Parts: sequence; structure tokens; C-alpha cells
Amino acid sequence: MTEVRVAHTADLDPATLATARALLERVFDGGWSDHDWEHSLGGVHALAWEGDEVVGHAAVVQRRLLHGGRALRAGYVEGVAVRADRRRRGHAAAMMEALERVVRGAYELGALGTTDEAVDFYAGRAWKQWRGPTSALTPTGIRRTEDEDGGIYVLPGTAALDLSGELTCDWRDGDVW
Ligand SMILES: CC(C)(COP(=O)(O)OP(=O)(O)OC[C@H]1O[C@@H](n2cnc3c(N)ncnc32)[C@H](O)[C@@H]1OP(=O)(O)O)[C@@H](O)C(=O)NCCC(=O)NCCS
Repeated sequence: MTEVRVAHTADLDPATLATARALLERVFDGGWSDHDWEHSLGGVHALAWEGDEVVGHAAVVQRRLLHGGRALRAGYVEGVAVRADRRRRGHAAAMMEALERVVRGAYELGALGTTDEAVDFYAGRAWKQWRGPTSALTPTGIRRTEDEDGGIYVLPGTAALDLSGELTCDWRDGDVW
């Protein structure tokens, strides 16, 4: 029995959160920091279950993205991962479908920073590559994040977007995008 359950962080018990965190640490194999986990909290999680096992995780949290003179209310997708032995069964697609509903209903756009491996996955959905320069609003002002250029994808919503314009994310510890 496979299903996706959607819940706010506040409604997930500590054991389920710990299982999701362990899954992310295993999938990203040393590339998953405490900051990365913290970035996934405080919003809505989609968890893929096979029976009583968690086999996939994704979350959407609110961030502000500066673009075109506005501070857009963005649903930022974090921590998308499916257990290596349970891929290509539609788990990520089902989790993203649930989170895209949240993005469309609650935010002006969706955004995420993709891994190389997941580009085809997002591009196969309605996500568009951000082609313009990216930057972050740091405590000392706006700073370019050129290493992230090309790796940010957005789910257009109600906000007017110029995908070749500048996109600036709000500040946070750890990876800013
Ligand atoms: C990317 C990832 C989440 C996809 O999970 P998944 O459950 O296997 O994805 P799905 O089965 O829902 O795939 C749906 C569709 O996306 C596309 N897709 C998924 N993974 C793909 C891949 N590695 N390469 C090309 N297309 C892919 C396919 O079109 C697929 O449909 P199909 O299987 O009928 O061809 C998974 O590979 C993963 O955890 N990777 C490691 C972590 C990671 O990179 N996460 C992304 C962070 S931004």
C-alpha cells in the first residue's frame, strides 16, 4: 500500500521527523547538513509511505524572493528525496503533486534549487529554469550567487516573472538557495 501523507511540521511526531531526516542523510550521503534539515522545517511536508515505511520526503516552506521590485511570497521546496531502492515508482511525482497544490493555493510562485540528477524530473513537470542572475539578500546587502545560476527552478503562479531577470532570495544560515 503506497500513499503520500501531507502534514505541517507541527503535526508530525518526533519519530516520523527523525525517520525523514535519516532518509535525507542517507540519500544525500554526507551532503545533508543540519542547516539543510532546518531549512525543511516550519512548512508542509509530503511523506511517501510504502506500508509502514517512509520511502520519500519533500517539504515546502515560505520564503521571500525579490524580483521585479517586489518581495514575492514563495513556496520554496526543500528536501526532495526518495530511497534509492524505491525510485521510478512515482513517489517523487506524487509528493510534488501534493506540494504543488500547496504552492498554487498559498504562494505567488514556487521555487527550488535542483540537483543535476533531478533536472529532468522538475523540467518534466511545470517547473521552469531561472535563466537570469541569482543573488541573496545578505546582512551586508545583495550578493551574487553565481554558483547557483541555472540551478534554480520556479513554478510560475500569480506573480509576474521575467525568467531572465534577477532573482534574490532572503537570508538564512547554510546554503542560501
Ligand atoms: C529525483 C528523485 C527525487 C526522483 O524520485 P522518484 O520517486 O524516482 O521519481 P518518480 O518515480 O516520481 O519519477 C517521475 C518522473 O520523473 C522523471 N525522472 C525521475 N527521476 C529521473 C532521473 N533520474 N532521470 C531522468 N528522469 C527522471 C521520469 O520522467 C519519471 O517518470 P518515469 O519513471 O515514468 O520515466 C530521486 O531520484 C532522488 O531522490 N534522487 C536523489 C536526491 C535528489 O537529487 N533529490 C532532488 C533534490 S532537488
